[in-house]
Order: sequence, then C-alpha cells, then structure tokens
Amino acid sequence: MTEIREMQLDDLEQVMEIENENFSRPWTETGFFTFLIRQDTLFLVAEEDEEILGYCGVVMVQDEGDITNVSVKKDRQNHGIGKLLVQELIRKTEEMGVSRLFLEVRESNERAIHVYEKAGFVKNGLRKNYYEDPVEHAVLMMHETTGKER
Ligand SMILES: CC(C)(COP(=O)(O)OP(=O)(O)OC[C@H]1O[C@@H](n2cnc3c(N)ncnc32)[C@H](O)[C@@H]1OP(=O)(O)O)[C@@H](O)C(=O)NCCC(=O)NCCS
Repeated sequence: MTEIREMQLDDLEQVMEIENENFSRPWTETGFFTFLIRQDTLFLVAEEDEEILGYCGVVMVQDEGDITNVSVKKDRQNHGIGKLLVQELIRKTEEMGVSRLFLEVRESNERAIHVYEKAGFVKNGLRKNYYEDPVEHAVLMMHETTGKER
C-alpha cells in the first residue's frame, strides 16, 4: 500500500536521490531543508515499506499556492504515484483554505501535463525559454476549487 504523508527532515536522504536522478537542475538538500521548515509550505511523500517513491511540495500565500516540486522515483514512474501525490496535495491545500494552485512544467513533459490535466489543472499561459539545460518554454497551469468538490 502506498501511503501519502507529510515529508520529514529524515526523508531528505531518499528524496535527494530521486531529485538528482530526475532533474538536470536539482534542488539542493539545503534548498529542501529551508522550504521544509517554513510554515507556509506543505511537502508530501509517497512511501511504501519505508521506501520513499515520490514527493511534491507547495508554497502557500493566503488562498493561493505555487507547486514547487512533483517527482517520482524513475523505476516507479507511470504506476499512479504522481497522480496520488497531486490529488492529495490538492485535497490537503483545499482543507487549508487554498482555492487556486499554480505550477509550471516543461512544454515537452507530456506525462506530467497529462497527470495535471487529469487532476483538474488547465493550461493558462506560456513562459518563453523559462527553463535551462535544455532551454525550453514553460507551460503555466492552474487549478481552481469550484466548491463542488467539498
Ligand atoms: C511526471 C511525474 C511526476 C508523473 O508521475 P507518475 O507516477 O509517473 O504518473 P502516474 O503514473 O500517476 O500517471 C501517468 C499518466 O500519464 C500517462 N502518460 C504516460 N506517458 C505519457 C506521455 N508520454 N504522454 C502523455 N501521457 C502519458 C499515463 O498513461 C498516465 O495516465 P492515466 O492515469 O490516464 O493512465 C513522474 O513521471 C516524474 O517524476 N517525472 C520526472 C520528473 C518530472 O517531470 N516532474 C514534473 C515536473 S513539473
């Protein structure tokens, strides 16, 4: 059974391994640490038998949130873990009073865009040449709570 729970500092070793295998410009451990200890953030992990399989995070300002990370261990991708993480992040932030979530994603990252669209995100902009290594446009996406979910 995959459990979704809040990220703890003890998880960072495993989180960093996944971060480094997934991104050309990974966050540093200090980066995660500084975000984790903030009161205005929420970071979740997906765990199975004490193994971290993925994580996601959001920074919240009043009723809005910016998703900063969504990442699943390479050999466990495409098994529904990303979907679980995003659904739980939406649910928990809604509970905390967040009604609009924003994120950006590489234009070529069709799998991530699919996961976000299935979770109710819509494309609402393009930020040209936003990414480096390789240079690529960012698709901007937004999720708005309609009230119907409650
Ligand atoms: C993007 C990511 C978080 C998604 O998590 P995941 O656990 O692999 O995704 P899930 O298994 O929950 O869902 C994958 C969905 O995408 C679909 N999919 C897979 N490859 C696809 C592709 N090339 N194009 C479109 N859809 C695709 C699957 O069919 C599935 O959809 P379904 O639920 O309708 O069948 C994960 O793959 C990952 O960590 N990628 C590397 C890091 C990354 O890109 N993070 C996002 C940064 S914004």
